[in-house]
Amino acid sequence: MKKNLILAAAVATLFAACCNDKPEATSQADPAEVVMQNILSRKSVRSYNGDTIPAAVMENLLKAAMAAPSGRDLRPWQIVVMTDKSQYGTVFEGNFNMQKFMESGAVIILCADTTFTAPTRDNPDGPAVTQVNQLWRDDMGAVTENLLLTVEAYGLGACWTACYPYADRMDPIRKALALPAAVVPYAVVPIGYPNGDTQPKDKWDPARVHYNRW
Ligand SMILES: Cc1cc2nc3c(=O)[nH]c(=O)nc-3n(C[C@H](O)[C@H](O)[C@H](O)COP(=O)(O)O)c2cc1C
Repeated sequence: MKKNLILAAAVATLFAACCNDKPEATSQADPAEVVMQNILSRKSVRSYNGDTIPAAVMENLLKAAMAAPSGRDLRPWQIVVMTDKSQYGTVFEGNFNMQKFMESGAVIILCADTTFTAPTRDNPDGPAVTQVNQLWRDDMGAVTENLLLTVEAYGLGACWTACYPYADRMDPIRKALALPAAVVPYAVVPIGYPNGDTQPKDKWDPARVHYNRW
């Protein structure tokens, strides 16, 4: 009898172990550690193996980019995803490292609508007026960094490539893509699977921190 009870308990334990619906308890990654690792691993990658980026990954990169904060929540970004390399010669005619772009899986052109239409601050109950968004550059920096960090998280590589304020880089893009007059191509970001092993730089410098005084 005692033997049967022991056997039944063993079978029950085995059943619970095998057929329990609950996921096995796994050690949870420390969210702060995950974020720190992501930020500290990001680096500019300038050489890629030419592989295309899966559409679902690209959508997540763009989703993360658009999750950026923006002044007055105006979200000035407009994003052009370039994958048609036959157009690169015309679109990126201005002073860019073309080899880097041709090796990438996609080149993202992060554009900003520099205007918005809303009642003015002085007359919040008045009519909507088209105004210059003074904060678009700040907003676009946040978008760009969000994109770069998500690129890193996916094991991809990218390089923030300046476009604004250089006319020789902006003008061919504006012309080739027929951007509306108020839309500025702010930065160009080639993204691809890294060729080689680029290491992040250690930029931590406590001497640049000032507590309660300069
Ligand atoms: C506003 C801005 C413009 C940049 N423009 C270029 C560029 O035109 N070409 C380039 O190769 N890298 C460019 N970079 C990348 C920097 O060279 C790079 O971030 C810097 O050397 C630090 O290296 P890291 O990104 O690996 O930490 C730019 C970065 C920023 C933030």
